[in-house]
Amino acid sequence: MLSNILSQPICVFHVGEFGKIAQDYLINIKSQFFDLTPDMYLLRQKQLEFLIENGQQKSNKTRMDDNCEFFSNYFAGDLDASCLNHLLNELDNKQLSAYKAIKPSRQRSIADFKLFCTPSEIQIERITKSGFQQQHALISSATKQRDWRICERHFTQADDLFVSEGLYHIIRGVANKILKCNPDIMSFDLAVHFTHITSTIDAISSNSPEGIHQDGMDYIVSALVVNRENALGSKSIIYGKDKTTPLLETTLMPGFGILQPDKDTDLWHCVEPIVPENTTVTACRSTIGFDFAISN
Ligand SMILES: [Fe+2]
Repeated sequence: MLSNILSQPICVFHVGEFGKIAQDYLINIKSQFFDLTPDMYLLRQKQLEFLIENGQQKSNKTRMDDNCEFFSNYFAGDLDASCLNHLLNELDNKQLSAYKAIKPSRQRSIADFKLFCTPSEIQIERITKSGFQQQHALISSATKQRDWRICERHFTQADDLFVSEGLYHIIRGVANKILKCNPDIMSFDLAVHFTHITSTIDAISSNSPEGIHQDGMDYIVSALVVNRENALGSKSIIYGKDKTTPLLETTLMPGFGILQPDKDTDLWHCVEPIVPENTTVTACRSTIGFDFAISN
């Protein structure tokens, strides 16, 4: 595999490296992902992108430039769905049916931590942050007009079931990989994202709706896969500076994750959509993402 010849810190790892407790954690936690809270931000993003794309043909009213604040307020959840009525009235019946077919495709929760690193140990403290924001996130796609991730989002706090010793073993294991390359780091802010995405043959979804992107974090585990059911696809791709030449392509199976540096690097990444293998059944993929921000 190409990852074997790439130097650290781009690293495809298996959770077994962090001990049996980490491996058991993934197995024991996987059923909990089905009960995560729907990501209403992503639903609203898809609705707005549909209206921008389809409304533009009829009227300048839906142009992003003219509606920036209005769209941001709806995305943030500060306006209810009735605020879109004047835009929905511009759609023809076929478009309206397509709009109504947009359903939540991702469930998620978040847990935030402070990590304190010494040569002998890594202390982990769970903290509560008011919101999650990716001020330094970037997208490469010329077709996307806006990166919604720059807005502050308030995700459901992860249930204590997700935050157990097994997770701490994984956090320490990944942090140690980073510290091996960068031993001067003394502390991190860490956001851990628990996500579950679903696809049907009529509504294919991906965990990177923003396309090829950077998350704007110092180091990321873009995905540690917990579970895949009836899922084809979801190839993870890391690109170089030109955002088109793949440096690494891999389809992660449960237990595997990718660690890479992100912010201020020439690395860009995405994950392809999941597609149902049996087209009559929903496909799903559960992952844990880690955003490490150095906070020395
Ligand atoms: Fe990402």
